Amino acid sequence: MRAAIAVLSWALICAAGWTAVAAADTPMPTPPRGKGERCVEATDVMRRDHMRLLTHQRDETMHRGIRTKKHSLVECLECHTRKDDQGQFMPVNAEGEFCNVCHDYSGVTMDCFECHATTPRQRKPVAARPLAEPGSDVSFRLRVAP
Ligand code: HEC
Ligand code: HEC
Ligand code: HEC
Repeated sequence: MRAAIAVLSWALICAAGWTAVAAADTPMPTPPRGKGERCVEATDVMRRDHMRLLTHQRDETMHRGIRTKKHSLVECLECHTRKDDQGQFMPVNAEGEFCNVCHDYSGVTMDCFECHATTPRQRKPVAARPLAEPGSDVSFRLRVAP
């Protein structure tokens, strides 16, 4: 019980802290809002822990063959991509789009989208290929037909 309360207060501090910082004069990143009511976890948890959730999901899938949707990168795109004036999906990592806004602000670089699709409903990778190396033809195929 004490642990649960500790976790809860930590979550509240994080949420309140973010709001306080955002309310100050410092410009803060404001990524476009996701679709739907809420994210796959509480928003403050997502802000703090999305990278950990994603790498955990990847390890479960690739090393243990456990495939769930909850923290799947594919699912993020369903809610976090927007369409342009022509009705085409914009890449989620394009300038001003969801994954780019905070990363650009914080100077975060990541290689995930060298292999993974950046818009929803592109074809999924054919099969799990745990031995895929950056630059291999597997990553090439994923990029052209992910
Ligand atoms: C070299 C290519 C490559 C890079 C770079 C890469 N991945 Fe993957 N990833 C794969 C392949 C191949 C799979 C297995 C695809 C499948 O079976 O769905 C995979 C699977 C996953 C999965 C499980 C499938 C899902 O969506 O639930 C997640 C999550 C994931 N990767 C996240 C990441 C993240 C986060 C990064 C960046 C830190 C990253 N990947 C970088 C190739 C790559
Ligand atoms: C069902 C739709 C949905 C899915 C799936 C989804 N999100 Fe979200 N996400 C949202 C919504 C809606 C919000 C805004 C919630 C709020 O304002 O409290 C959000 C908020 C966030 C935030 C905080 C943004 C901010 O303004 O600070 C991050 C980070 C995030 N999501 C990452 C992800 C990642 C990574 C995935 C995939 C593992 C994902 N989301 C999957 C709907 C979704
Ligand atoms: C609310 C701001 C915010 C949004 C939106 C956001 N990120 Fe992040 N992300 C960060 C911050 C800040 C870091 C660096 C955290 C650190 O270094 O501890 C980060 C780090 C990461 C990392 C780890 C990079 C590394 O190797 O160090 C991955 C992977 C990642 N984000 C994936 C995503 C994906 C995928 C999306 C879009 C679905 C996304 N993020 C959207 C703020 C955000």
